[in-house]
Amino acid sequence: MATNPAPKTFRVKSFGCQMNVYDGERMAELLGAEGMTAAAEGDDADLVVLNTCHIREKATEKVYSDIGRLRRDDGTSPLIAVAGCVAQAEGEEIMARAPSVKVVVGPQSYHRLPEMVADAASGKRSTETDMPAEAKFAALPKRRKSGPTAFLTVQEGCDKFCTYCVVPYTRGAEISRPFVDLVEEAKHLIAGGAREITLLGQNVNAWTGEDDRGRPVGLEGLARALAAEPDLARIRYTTSHPNDMTDALIAAHGEVDKLMPFLHLPVQAGSDRILKAMNRSHTVDSYLQLLERFRVARPDIALSGDFIVGFPGETEAEFEETLKVVDAVGYAQAFSFKYSPRPGTPAATMADHVPASVMDERLQRLQAALNRDQWAFNKASVGKICEVLVERKGKHPGQWLGKSPWLQSVHFFGDAHIGALVRVELVEAGPNSLSGRLV
Ligand code: SAH
Ligand code: SF4
Ligand code: F3S
Repeated sequence: MATNPAPKTFRVKSFGCQMNVYDGERMAELLGAEGMTAAAEGDDADLVVLNTCHIREKATEKVYSDIGRLRRDDGTSPLIAVAGCVAQAEGEEIMARAPSVKVVVGPQSYHRLPEMVADAASGKRSTETDMPAEAKFAALPKRRKSGPTAFLTVQEGCDKFCTYCVVPYTRGAEISRPFVDLVEEAKHLIAGGAREITLLGQNVNAWTGEDDRGRPVGLEGLARALAAEPDLARIRYTTSHPNDMTDALIAAHGEVDKLMPFLHLPVQAGSDRILKAMNRSHTVDSYLQLLERFRVARPDIALSGDFIVGFPGETEAEFEETLKVVDAVGYAQAFSFKYSPRPGTPAATMADHVPASVMDERLQRLQAALNRDQWAFNKASVGKICEVLVERKGKHPGQWLGKSPWLQSVHFFGDAHIGALVRVELVEAGPNSLSGRLV
């Protein structure tokens, strides 16, 4: 396989979670700092970074087919770098199987991407899957530009070891980035145009640090510090784990106006037996009680969650308990997945795997219930006047698209611009969005 020349243009393709989106942005900034430019939409790029996700099935197959699709008509390929969680989990094998891949770099080592790309241009393929996350953040360039909504990784890794999940293996142990670094990165994002910042972590509410006066703080302390930034309008955070929730964070929802009334708190399943087999270390009751405390602190809070159907051994009756949780909570939105055995995780070798047809059927029923509740939540918002943060132009001339405080998509016509916070009356609700009228 021929050596690629030093790339002048690049493209980063991110799959998976919001943290991968954040990592993809940081990799693009790193390459930009080396003088490379992002290839325009539709143009061929000299370097393609596949920033992969390993959370569910067919992740690896998908990477190979993406690599195949990058082959040009003349048989050459761009310089391909595989990054992200598949790189961490299957890097060696990808290197062995795909000669057009010149760089394999895991989620904790992508600060080394530019030098690895330079090595590749001089004929040396390399793999880097070390785990020291702190080194990475210190080596990244300062943030300069941002859209109205920005992601900021504050915590990374996971020590929970849910029995179905690869994240503890691909992202490593839980680490919290230092408070001062985060406030600084946030300031840069705000100066670059961000009006809303979403704090990211695999267990974001496990974040801890010391504030600028050396006092120990949790995520609520970071949120309060960011709320003091005058040009920042909104703060969100995701994803939380029920066991890391603190009174202080719940209380902040009632006190910090800029903390949006939205909580993504996955429950995964509605049966205590399944939750135990999943090693979730919370029960259905403790989860519901937690939500109740959020509702007391912030009565209009919109709730979101993640669900897995068909975990090994899940019976019909146990699945129905999941539906009961859905009915009890009334989620404003949620994500639901069929269980996918991940190589190397304890659940993959458990007995009684649920047949695919049964999983399909359960997922359909669950999604019908979740869609019903999402639409009901949207309908119940009609008549409210709220702020909408404008994120982009709509499909029609003069139309704008943005988000309500409850993370609903809202479209409206009138005088606005990207990044504006406008007051909108919600006038009509669809299953996935609302239409509004400027007030
Ligand atoms: N740290 C977060 C997010 C983890 S990944 C959390 O704990 O919630 C996002 C979601 O993917 C999980 O919440 C879970 O619902 C789903 N997921 C993870 N592993 C899975 C698997 N093996 N099969 C199906 N869904 C899975
Ligand atoms: Fe995966 Fe569980 Fe960690 Fe979430 S808490 S990342 S589901 S192991
Ligand atoms: Fe996927 Fe890794 Fe995120 S497996 S969901 S990209 S942490």
